[in-house]
Amino acid sequence: MQLDYTLDAAYWQQRYATGQTAWDTGAVTPPLRDYFAQLGPPDARRILIPGVGRGYEAEYLHYAGWSNVFVADVAAAPLHDLQQRVPDFPLGHLLQQDFFQLPVSLPYDMLVEQTFFCALDPDLRPAYAQHCAELLRPGGTLVGLLFATTFSQPGPPFGGSREEYHAYFQPYFNFVHFDTAFNSIPPRQGRELFICLRRK
Ligand SMILES: C[S@@+](CC[C@H](N)C(=O)[O-])C[C@H]1O[C@@H](n2cnc3c(N)ncnc32)[C@H](O)[C@@H]1O
Repeated sequence: MQLDYTLDAAYWQQRYATGQTAWDTGAVTPPLRDYFAQLGPPDARRILIPGVGRGYEAEYLHYAGWSNVFVADVAAAPLHDLQQRVPDFPLGHLLQQDFFQLPVSLPYDMLVEQTFFCALDPDLRPAYAQHCAELLRPGGTLVGLLFATTFSQPGPPFGGSREEYHAYFQPYFNFVHFDTAFNSIPPRQGRELFICLRRK
């Protein structure tokens, strides 16, 4: 897909600066909250949330006692917002970096996806799946939500189908869940997949 605009840090920073953040739910979403809640007591697992935005999932995990939560975003504004809301979130865990440049030297146990995949240029989807796999240890988990719908406006968000997405992840992951979420927020009801994939 040839986009006539660039989805770079300046683009995203501008979206935050002008308040064009319709994706922002203002709170942890039920599918992720319920998934996190069933993980059991917090432990030392390294969890990364890329394209985190204002990071309500990170806030939830932090206050639930998970101490190795890392967040990454190309835009400074949402990371600053998270830092203001959660002053004791470790500064070193706030990564203002391009997801595709995140180093793979210290693997993560879990990656959390929510409205980041759909925000990327669709041409980057195979690279997204590959880099998620590179960032995870074998057996590590990619959990989250993917829009399985089409959007009438030019993206982001960019839509797609379950079949399309399956092809990206299949080379690297075993599929635990890859089905329509039953507990989406109302505007996303029936339009997003809950995915839970294990790194091969
Ligand atoms: C649609 S927003 C979603 C934010 C958040 N996940 C949420 O659900 O509220 C997409 C986010 O990804 C960030 N982003 C876009 N491209 C990125 C990249 N290559 N690396 C890291 N973050 C990126 C944007 O700055 C933005 O905060």
